[in-house]
Amino acid sequence: MIRLGVNIDHIATIRNARGEPFPSVIEAALVAETNGADLITVHLREDRRHIKDDDVFLLRQTLKTQLNLEMAATQEMLEIALEVRPDFVCLVPEKRQELTTEGGLDVINNFNHIANIIKTLHDNKIWTSIFIDPDSTQITAAREANAYAIEIHTGKYAQAKNNYSSTEEFFRIKDMAELADSLELIVNAGHGLNYHNVQPIARLPQMHELNIGYAIIAQSVFAGLPNAVSKMKQLMLMLE
Ligand code: PXP
Repeated sequence: MIRLGVNIDHIATIRNARGEPFPSVIEAALVAETNGADLITVHLREDRRHIKDDDVFLLRQTLKTQLNLEMAATQEMLEIALEVRPDFVCLVPEKRQELTTEGGLDVINNFNHIANIIKTLHDNKIWTSIFIDPDSTQITAAREANAYAIEIHTGKYAQAKNNYSSTEEFFRIKDMAELADSLELIVNAGHGLNYHNVQPIARLPQMHELNIGYAIIAQSVFAGLPNAVSKMKQLMLMLE
């Protein structure tokens, strides 16, 4: 059965906006687990703009499911991963100025570096995937670098401006999922998936796991706002 990885980075974005200890990423992870998340995904960025080091260590201690740590392929992050020991690492490209991860990792042009990081992580029993664009040369390189899985970047599919390009991007992802599967890579996908575009991707038979963050956290505002407003009013009126 396809697995859902819930990315809770933006719970930390809201928390950090006011420097308060709430909303708690730990509580968010537990709520996600209780409601069907098969794993919890966090991206510890170089600039720590949302998830912080302590969050990752605490999640490792409290999760009942599995922890997927997204990180840049740097020495600093490798050392943290070896200390935290997440179940999975997903290697992602990172640029400081970007709003979110903009494209897939270039495995071909960083081959030795990436292959060495994967080897170190695998020697420590941390299964490693690579976040890459749906591109056959990058997928073949991921196989040669000995990745355990690829996570196909679905950003272009999600952001397609019309049906023609979204269909074109969908078939690119479909073909690349088939290629990766034939190379015995586990096939995951993520980025920009939402309540309107997830089903065609989830239906692909090779798809093992989807990592979804922004759309779920955004939806939770409206799923939770009625209760949050009425509870405050009840308290003010001394009805609770
Ligand atoms: N997968 C990877 C590798 C990512 O970098 C991100 C964004 O942090 C996601 C999945 C989730 O993307 P979104 O928040 O758009 O659902």
